[in-house]
Amino acid sequence: MSLNALDGPRIKQLSNAGAPYETIRLDKLTPVIGAEISGVDLGRPIARPQMEEIHRALAENLVIFFRDQQMTQEQHLDFGRHFGPLHLHPAAPHEPGHPELMIIKADANSVRANGEGWHSDVSCDEEPPMGSILYIKECPPNGGDTLFASMYAAYEALSDRMKAYLEGLTALHDGEPVYRGMFAKDGVADKANYPRAEHPVIRTHPVTGRKALYVNRGFTARILGIPRDESEGILRYLYEHMENPLFQCRFRWQPNSVAFWDNRCAQHRAMWDYWPHRRYGNRVTVRGERPV
Ligand code: SIN
Repeated sequence: MSLNALDGPRIKQLSNAGAPYETIRLDKLTPVIGAEISGVDLGRPIARPQMEEIHRALAENLVIFFRDQQMTQEQHLDFGRHFGPLHLHPAAPHEPGHPELMIIKADANSVRANGEGWHSDVSCDEEPPMGSILYIKECPPNGGDTLFASMYAAYEALSDRMKAYLEGLTALHDGEPVYRGMFAKDGVADKANYPRAEHPVIRTHPVTGRKALYVNRGFTARILGIPRDESEGILRYLYEHMENPLFQCRFRWQPNSVAFWDNRCAQHRAMWDYWPHRRYGNRVTVRGERPV
């Protein structure tokens, strides 16, 4: 079963938006973004009604969290496959024998940690991932939170004049400056080329139909079709605007927590404030569609 394509049941499911949940318990972190879900065991087969409610919870809350989960690597991969085919990261290290199981790790020997700046995962791909499912198994004694921000809220808070200005503009997203050399210390050799793609600055979410800002500090190189200095000024403004704490939630990890975020409408930023301690887990990333 794939819940990634826009199909009949999906539309029906969305018509249920805002209805009470029957198979899961949901506690919102903020009115804008983030919800913790309980009553689900991700290590066991999940019946379709519960899977559909998990998907609706993601659509309504942009990022959902699960605590105290025990999943094998296979179960983590299987959970991701319920939402669509899995994505292969163009650069990051993965678990042996599992190219779809990205390693998220920082410890005393690290010179960087994954996701330290605001970004939407691999937005430099022609078809960037729809979602990412991060399972953190080892946490530092404190710190190592992840921040998430709603790009719907950021878009909706723009003035009508700014919305009109941005409508129809596209931006170049480039993986080269991000990925080249980034994983050398993890023993990953550079590739000849990294992905780059042009995407609309405002995208419409294929499931909810809502508009979201789709530029990010990590990958967006410039807005196309306007002078370079104008692009720099507009992007600087948009980045400051979208980083307003009003659009955010912050997740405090415990060992065996899972976060599942929707890259089409949310950005995230991982806090590396715990050196020299260790934080370790795996990310399964679900393929997405070309943004429109
Ligand atoms: C990432 O960008 O996938 C890393 C997020 C995190 O480590 O919290």
